[in-house]
Amino acid sequence: MTWWRREVIYQIYPWSFQDSNGDGIGDLAGITARLDHLRALGIGGIWLSPIYPSPMHDFGYDVSEHCAIDPRFGTLEDFDRLLQESHRRGIRVLMDLVLNHTSDQHPWFLEARVSRDSAKRDWYYWADPVGRGWRRRPPNNWQAVFGGSAWAWDAATEQYYLHSFLKEQPDLNWRNPEVQSAMEQVARFWLDREVDGFRLDAINWIGKDVQWPSNPSAAGRDRFRMRSYLRQLHQHDRDQPETHEALRALRKIIDQYPETVLVGEASADTPGGPAAFYGDGTDELHLVFNFRLLKARWGAESFRQVIDEWERAVPSPGWPTQVLSNHDQSRHATRHSRGVSERQRDRRARMAALLLLTLRGTPFLYYGEEIGMCDGRLRYRDLRDPYTKRYWPFSPGRDPARTPMQWDATPQAGFTTGRPWLPVSADPDRINVAAQCDDPDSLLTLYRRLIHLRRTSPALLDGEYEDLLPEHPTCLVYRRALPAAVPVDAWIIAANLSPRPQFVELKLITPTCRVHVSTDPLAPLDRPHDGAVLLQPEEALLFRVPPE
Ligand code: GLC
Ligand code: CA
Repeated sequence: MTWWRREVIYQIYPWSFQDSNGDGIGDLAGITARLDHLRALGIGGIWLSPIYPSPMHDFGYDVSEHCAIDPRFGTLEDFDRLLQESHRRGIRVLMDLVLNHTSDQHPWFLEARVSRDSAKRDWYYWADPVGRGWRRRPPNNWQAVFGGSAWAWDAATEQYYLHSFLKEQPDLNWRNPEVQSAMEQVARFWLDREVDGFRLDAINWIGKDVQWPSNPSAAGRDRFRMRSYLRQLHQHDRDQPETHEALRALRKIIDQYPETVLVGEASADTPGGPAAFYGDGTDELHLVFNFRLLKARWGAESFRQVIDEWERAVPSPGWPTQVLSNHDQSRHATRHSRGVSERQRDRRARMAALLLLTLRGTPFLYYGEEIGMCDGRLRYRDLRDPYTKRYWPFSPGRDPARTPMQWDATPQAGFTTGRPWLPVSADPDRINVAAQCDDPDSLLTLYRRLIHLRRTSPALLDGEYEDLLPEHPTCLVYRRALPAAVPVDAWIIAANLSPRPQFVELKLITPTCRVHVSTDPLAPLDRPHDGAVLLQPEEALLFRVPPE
């Protein structure tokens, strides 16, 4: 089984993981210094959010040079060292590849904007204005994800350029073969340095309708959404068929490097769903994030629905992913627990861990998830991300999910000796690595245990997912098992997502099944079960089912 099916992958947001020189910004040497934490956790791969030189308008997703390291994070030597030290510990390293756009400070764009005849002009999208003078407007109504028109006026050459995100992130023209081959070279540069693959940023954006038709507006309640981007249906500004061609071409290159992997980020509402980017399961991406689980409300029915959909959507022989948190969304410990007690929040975080690590597919963890980090409670003046600022305080934004990793209970949480770029979250003292490291009942210990179990159990890794009680309103009960002919243990997961105790009746839970894990550290493992079991409020059990 290839490593990226077997292993759990951990996302590091380099700004926030570990600062090694006191400037308050995380860096590569810091990550290297913390690799043993990751090894003890049992993960097998890290994905680094961008570390390339960047003006940092979008904290690295605005790349101004592709084959170098931003000095804030260190040097190429620091990178090679990180790679080497990771590999030495059996940890693979994925880079973030931002294909849709560059920084407006990238030499390509600087050259493109010099004149309309620039050799690089066509590397980006340009359009003439409609109307003149004060009546001048962009060719259509497209909106940037981060707000406002997706078109920015270039006074020198009197045309608009397209930017799907910030105006400092002009979109690359993927119809231009030169762009494709330039990006291929970037990929090769890092693959030749022995990185193990890429997370592809915003891939469903790379194709657009260049006749520039306007998008229709959204219907119903969505018409009144605060973010202008959400008030439209994205029929023309993304998700066009040529995306698949570009991905097939990239896959051919990656396939020349054994054991490397492509994992794509695509919007949850992309037509046909994110699974479309698996192609036929062999010719586009190896893995695609499923943000529908991340966006699902806490509850058995909503979880079941997205899990089932995803099970059906991923084409075989494709392989699913599971993800609950990342650098763009409210952390799940916070998101699943708005308005509930701290105790309940902890219980839900433990259940979420068990679900994430026992569902079928490669789990992705977001740094700090393993200790139950919550969104930081920030003030407006703490904010750094332009998007978070723009919609503050109506939308939680992204900065709260990017606060420094909490290593210990000292004031800067062991992250820095200086002033951190974002304040350390005021979480309770126990939400840090030092406090949880040797505590058998901690969330960190639960993650370690479950990751170990997943890596070593053929049924958890490769078994089918079978929903055992599809009608149950408050409990999610499923089995992970290999075909009956294979004599290995199977697992039954019984999760009570409600705040009340629940009886689960199920013949398969025979007395020979053993409760292997409960997410409730105080609950007895040897409780009676014979065709039924009593689950505590917000408790999940993992049963080991011996082979017949
Ligand atoms: C992706 C990234 C996000 C970034 C955007 C533009 O969605 O995850 O952080 O701002 O793309 O690159
Ligand atoms: Ca630093």
